[in-house]
Amino acid sequence: MSYDLHAPYPAGRPRRLRRTDFLRRLVREHDLTVDDLIWPLFVIDGEKRREPVPSMPGVERFTIDELLHTVEEAVNLGIPVVSLFPNTPDEKRSADAAEAFNPDNLVCRAVRAIRQRFGDAIGVMTDVALDPYTSHGQDGLLGRNGEILNDETIAALVRQALNQAEAGCDILGPSDMMDGRVGAIRAALEEAGLQQVHIMAYTAKYASAFYGPFRDAVGSGARLTGDKRTYQMDPANAREALREAAMDIAEGADSIMVKPGMPYLDIVRLLKEHFTCPVFAYQVSGEYAMLKAACANGWLDEHKVVMESLLAFKRAGADGILTYYAADVARWLRGEQRADG
Ligand code: PBG
Repeated sequence: MSYDLHAPYPAGRPRRLRRTDFLRRLVREHDLTVDDLIWPLFVIDGEKRREPVPSMPGVERFTIDELLHTVEEAVNLGIPVVSLFPNTPDEKRSADAAEAFNPDNLVCRAVRAIRQRFGDAIGVMTDVALDPYTSHGQDGLLGRNGEILNDETIAALVRQALNQAEAGCDILGPSDMMDGRVGAIRAALEEAGLQQVHIMAYTAKYASAFYGPFRDAVGSGARLTGDKRTYQMDPANAREALREAAMDIAEGADSIMVKPGMPYLDIVRLLKEHFTCPVFAYQVSGEYAMLKAACANGWLDEHKVVMESLLAFKRAGADGILTYYAADVARWLRGEQRADG
């Protein structure tokens, strides 16, 4: 970068690039479009019900029939992908997470219903991790001494991933952070003839306190014993994310993800600079709750602050963003496009 080649003031006046809207548009380096969005949705059992998530105002959990209305909205708005998270009924949670392998579990039924109704008009992503199915709320299987077993968990994740892929999901999102799971899932998909399924690895997933509202939404928070620091990354580490990414890519991931988003945009930039595959970022539940709370108080302008925060993800290098604001953003973008003519 040759900053020194620029004319010094007064010949150099950076404000000349900002004087009018047409100039600002002309020199704009990044933009946010509907094509950047993945919309996470929560699914519950039953019929004709929507339940609000108290710590995420504006977010609801849907029974499958209601979910279809919401997915239709996503299709109409042009959102490319929805990501499904089931809130499993209590009686179906167990130490071995067996419900994760049930071909008729909630998430598989939801995937099939979306596929059947909308075909390829929208992509469906599912989460690969055991926490919606375990009685203890951990993403992996618990050993005798309370440790999270790695290789035993991988075997379970492979069954879960195949189950979701057979139901018709387009993108698998392993969010569990076990070592070696991407390779094992990729090999199993190949063997099963499911080689078209995309793996978006939650590569740099940090042991973050920003997931609190999500755990309420899927009902794993209250039952969670201990924390996830033996598998999710230490928020103090950046270089370690490079190693996680190199491993996931070598094991067959198609794209990688950083999570949470806004407090970790340095990691998005780092991975973007080192790897050529698409890099995604997740604006997680706690980030959503923070923005919502401040906006509800009238302390921040919701439209402006959400657009600015997501544009910052793009500027950091994100190719796409998982956000609970996806539908709002898609609507705002349409409004803006109309206003600009
Ligand atoms: C669980 C999972 C979590 C999120 C996505 N998948 C929570 C966790 O790891 O405890 C967080 C999403 C959010 O906070 O919005 N495997």
